[in-house]
Amino acid sequence: MNILITGGAGFIGSHLAKHYVDLGNKVFIVDNLITGNKNNIAYLPPDQISFFEEDVTVFDFSTLPHIDIAYHLASPASPIQYKKHPIETMRANSEGAYRVLEQCKARKFDRFILASTSEIYGDPLIHPQKETYFGNVNPVGDRACYDESKRYAEAMTMSYHMTFDIDIRIARIFNTYGPNMELNDGRVVSNFITQALENNPITIYGDGTQTRSFCYVTDLVLGLVKLGETEDIEGEIINLGNPDEKTMIKLAEMIHEMTNSISDISFESIGEDDPKMRKPDIEKADKILNWHPRVSLEKGLIKTTEYFKKMLSK
Ligand SMILES: NC(=O)c1ccc[n+]([C@@H]2O[C@H](COP(=O)([O-])OP(=O)(O)OC[C@H]3O[C@@H](n4cnc5c(N)ncnc54)[C@H](O)[C@@H]3O)[C@@H](O)[C@H]2O)c1
Repeated sequence: MNILITGGAGFIGSHLAKHYVDLGNKVFIVDNLITGNKNNIAYLPPDQISFFEEDVTVFDFSTLPHIDIAYHLASPASPIQYKKHPIETMRANSEGAYRVLEQCKARKFDRFILASTSEIYGDPLIHPQKETYFGNVNPVGDRACYDESKRYAEAMTMSYHMTFDIDIRIARIFNTYGPNMELNDGRVVSNFITQALENNPITIYGDGTQTRSFCYVTDLVLGLVKLGETEDIEGEIINLGNPDEKTMIKLAEMIHEMTNSISDISFESIGEDDPKMRKPDIEKADKILNWHPRVSLEKGLIKTTEYFKKMLSK
């Protein structure tokens, strides 16, 4: 198959590219490296990878050959990065999605998979979050550039499906972690691990009672692939994440112990609109895709810590 991955030099995209390359497919990556890293894909065989260091808002997608599945992942994803690049984030999700969908409309690309996010639920008022929940989002807060552009991308994707009968699927991805995360990307798992390994204070924002549910990246990629390859599920929106919910205090303690760190745990003020709880309801993924995560948080954190140790020693 020919697979397109926008944002394929990023954390999740690079694992998705490896999955398809390992199975003998040809992978086309369009990534401007705003938050990605060429090293994430440098080891993949050049005869199976075509890398375009380009922005999805200007890249001429019509120059690509016929694509079987187009995964649209291009967008900064960590709060530090999207708050630093709000306009670029909004454009990657809105114009980027539109431009790839146009190729589907021209029947050059067969199928479109949108990497959406649990952030479209905002600071949720129901728990756990089901796909039918419409969310509780501040449209003008400092996370709005991400939340609202992903909501726009979902609406755009669904409009192309309803208007032009395009085969689309939407993944609502919950917090994912693992190797290939950038050391300084500012997400909680990478922050805690690097702070613990360097014996710097492990910083918790707020009182640490807020919860998140963490999915190991190889599990997430298998979910994305099932969403991309299962037949007769056009138009489906599916949560992908691990429902094993932890408070930030618990996560900090686990990482502290696992790394034998002598770091203190410190508390700092919390950002605007930070969700108090986050846990996917994955009944739909289980039923439609026969997918559920298999890697425990303990095992995933060990693998991620090994990766960060290597990165810090370079
Ligand atoms: N990691 C998570 O926990 C998580 C959770 C929910 C949703 N997602 C979504 O999954 C996707 C991948 O996330 P990630 O964690 O791998 O983030 P990432 O920042 O590591 O990867 C995103 C990639 O997109 C590229 N990119 C951004 N804007 C671009 C543009 N205009 N043109 C071309 N490339 C561009 C970046 O350079 C980067 O390589 C994103 O769409 C994100 O919103 C991730």
